Amino acid sequence: MELYLDTANLQEIKEVSELGIIRGVTTNPTLLAKEDPSVDFKQRILEIHRLVGGHVSVEVVSTDKEGMVREAEEIVEWFPEATIKIPMIPQGLAAVKELSKRGIPTNVTLVFSATQAIAAHQAGASYVSIFLGRLDDIAYDGIAILNDICEIWDVQGYDSLIIAASIRNPLHIIEAARAGADIATIPYNVLMQSLKNPLTDRGLENFLRDYDRYLTERQKSMLI
Ligand code: E4P
Repeated sequence: MELYLDTANLQEIKEVSELGIIRGVTTNPTLLAKEDPSVDFKQRILEIHRLVGGHVSVEVVSTDKEGMVREAEEIVEWFPEATIKIPMIPQGLAAVKELSKRGIPTNVTLVFSATQAIAAHQAGASYVSIFLGRLDDIAYDGIAILNDICEIWDVQGYDSLIIAASIRNPLHIIEAARAGADIATIPYNVLMQSLKNPLTDRGLENFLRDYDRYLTERQKSMLI
């Protein structure tokens, strides 16, 4: 399972890209709205692409097929490797069908059920994003639904890639990997939290303290 960062924040992308653990970035209008409005949308997307050097999903804001296709055409002019994020609505499926005919990769977003996931795949989606945290929020079991979808993909031999999205905690990452998701797209704070373990910190503290002690003893022994 690959890891993507779910953000539009340049500093977060820069920091995590340097760790060598992410292969892409997913954005959405809510994430973009959190950032400095003085930076132009296109410039921000191009900078994200430059920093991550891999997958970048850019979401459209039109709700009709023609508008979505028009936005997609504009985005791929900025950079041809763009993946266009399309909402899971009937008009969105029609846009996915059209974009897939033209060879433009799509990521169908806001998927909350196996039937929606199957429809997104059939329309020609390259990626299907299943929202775990938002399902958990309304007392549905997000991981159980992801498990069903991954099983269906195996049985049917579907080749579109499954993204575990709306990740809220490190356990979601583990469960998504166990389910067989191809990608988990993770907010910065959850990803950084998932790297930490108190035993690692304590272990390092002890190694450094013991090395200091060794140096002091060695200095003392050389004075004798
Ligand atoms: C997916 O691509 C979305 O950006 C996403 O994961 C949103 O999740 P949220 O529920 O944290 O807003």
